[in-house]
Amino acid sequence: MTDLFTISSLLNIVINRLDMKPTDWIITRRSIRKYTEKKIPAEQIELLLKAGMYAPSAVNKQPWHFVVIDDHNIFDEIIAVHPNAAMLKGASHAILVCGDLHLQHDDGYWVVDCGAVTENILLAAHSIGLGACWIGIHPRENRKAALRKLLDLPDYVEPYALVSLGFPAEEKETPDRFTPGKVHYNHWGNPYFK
Ligand SMILES: Cc1cc2nc3c(=O)[nH]c(=O)nc-3n(C[C@H](O)[C@H](O)[C@H](O)COP(=O)(O)O)c2cc1C
Repeated sequence: MTDLFTISSLLNIVINRLDMKPTDWIITRRSIRKYTEKKIPAEQIELLLKAGMYAPSAVNKQPWHFVVIDDHNIFDEIIAVHPNAAMLKGASHAILVCGDLHLQHDDGYWVVDCGAVTENILLAAHSIGLGACWIGIHPRENRKAALRKLLDLPDYVEPYALVSLGFPAEEKETPDRFTPGKVHYNHWGNPYFK
């Protein structure tokens, strides 16, 4: 009986997913901080990195590097210096998105480009059934210094964001975030939605 129930709920999840449009993936993505013990296969990590590398970037400079981490000693060291990274304890992997100051289009562009990369990874993770959470590094100098030291990053490489990853052990409802009042029409203060 339990097995039948499990199979039918799994089938429901699969059918719902098959029915989802790319915009549904964007809207149903949530920060997932609880993971099962299952390790993410290497091909899926590669797919996430590829998704990151297909992000838009200013003048197509692609000023990024990635550090894939699955060493739990390193996770423990990050948790010790980062107040909001406890979910790494149960993570399978984390990807540190880094900016390359030598490759960026102009001063400060690496930050914008790396934001697009990070979101691509989060969305790709959700779309293949993984749970992920953005762990903020930039612009907190103490976190950046700690990661730079821990992972031996060279001077011209800036740690931007850490994405914790695993198979989800929690489900989250989609909140209502659509805020018509934030949308203006042609001029500031003229509402787009009447
Ligand atoms: C720049 C940035 C930094 C964040 N840093 C953390 C963090 O350090 N730890 C954490 O648990 N979540 C972090 N988050 C995730 C946010 O808390 C989360 O995106 C927000 O609460 C909205 O929830 P949602 O992602 O489920 O839509 C960060 C998100 C962003 C964009």
